[in-house]
Amino acid sequence: MNKRIKKDNRILVTCSLFVVTVLVMVVGSSMAYERYDQGCDNCHGDFFSGVSPKGTVFPSNNKHEMHRGSSHMDADCSLCHGGNGELFLASSGGTSSNPGVGCVGCHGRYYDGIGDSGVGRRKHHITTGITVCGTCHSSDPEPLPESVLPTYYGTVDTKVDDPCNAGPDFLENWSIGDDEGMDNDGDDVYDQDDSDCSDCPADVTGDAVIDVLDLLAILSAWGAGGGPEDINGDGVVDVLDLLEVLSAWGPCA
Ligand code: HEC
Ligand code: HEC
Ligand code: HEC
Ligand code: HEC
Repeated sequence: MNKRIKKDNRILVTCSLFVVTVLVMVVGSSMAYERYDQGCDNCHGDFFSGVSPKGTVFPSNNKHEMHRGSSHMDADCSLCHGGNGELFLASSGGTSSNPGVGCVGCHGRYYDGIGDSGVGRRKHHITTGITVCGTCHSSDPEPLPESVLPTYYGTVDTKVDDPCNAGPDFLENWSIGDDEGMDNDGDDVYDQDDSDCSDCPADVTGDAVIDVLDLLAILSAWGAGGGPEDINGDGVVDVLDLLEVLSAWGPCA
């Protein structure tokens, strides 16, 4: 009788181990990065630590504090956390003024029909040479330009208000020393350096006049993606950008 129970138990244990292994395999592949601690932390460290792969220095060496601290972004807890404390990249409790779209409410980039989905965040990784995001998200569309407000920007639930970070009164940057906010659209050009943020986007060289120098800059970046030469922000420097220069010819208005 006792032997029989032991054997049954062994079968039970073996079966459960098998189920757990299969679950881990399925969850591991289909839901990579569904939460910050499912892989983002491999490169970015614990959310309560100051590790940054690009060398950003966070106030108090703490990403959580930088996001939620009242002297910093002052982001409402429910922009990131769900009702039961759970934390997903693309869903959260939300507030009376904001939908619960989680981290992608700031680190997203809306595109038609799909909503805030983190497409700009992934493009930033891909542009800076981190290939892993593109392996699963290879059919991402082009993110909207830097100048378009992400869902949570400029709302009562946070101090973050301007993706173009146009000076000290427009808050997007609390890290120490780099004066950089976010590269929201993923072209690796930040804030005011991004031509999307300029009042005069066809002024590629930034000398306040649209002239032959801008034409030459376009030609030498021909076929490339991103960067100030990609004036219309469609991800490729081509004849459309050339036409933008010609139609804006002369001093910046
Ligand atoms: C394989 C390593 C790796 C993984 C995994 C990774 N990142 Fe990154 N991430 C980087 C590096 C490196 C940079 C800095 C690139 C640069 O700007 O030069 C970066 C930059 C960023 C930035 C700053 C972008 C900016 O505008 O300056 C954010 C935000 C970010 N990652 C969020 C995430 C999130 C969220 C995840 C999980 C979905 C994640 N990362 C996963 C390596 C990684
Ligand atoms: C920017 C998004 C964000 C905001 C805003 C935010 N949190 Fe968090 N919080 C996180 C992340 C990410 C973690 C790490 C857990 C994880 O990765 O699953 C976390 C973890 C925690 C933990 C667990 C600590 C631990 O060691 O396990 C507590 C408690 C917490 N947050 C409280 C708060 C409170 C209270 C607020 C509002 C004042 C707040 N958080 C605002 C993102 C946020
Ligand atoms: C192993 C495949 C895989 C890799 C690698 C991967 N993702 Fe994902 N990611 C997914 C899947 C699957 C979803 C869920 C998509 C859905 O719900 O439609 C997702 C969702 C997301 C979301 C939430 C938005 C949404 O649409 O649900 C973000 C943000 C995200 N990924 C960012 C990244 C970043 C940044 C990287 C690179 C560091 C990355 N992913 C790499 C498979 C992957
Ligand atoms: C209210 C807007 C907002 C929300 C919501 C938000 N972030 Fe951020 N996050 C920012 C801004 C702005 C920065 C850049 C701050 C700076 O550069 O000083 C940043 C920086 C970061 C960085 C640092 C990147 C680096 O340089 O290494 C990481 C990682 C990050 N966020 C992850 C997350 C995760 C994960 C969530 C959700 C749990 C989240 N963020 C939610 C606005 C937000």
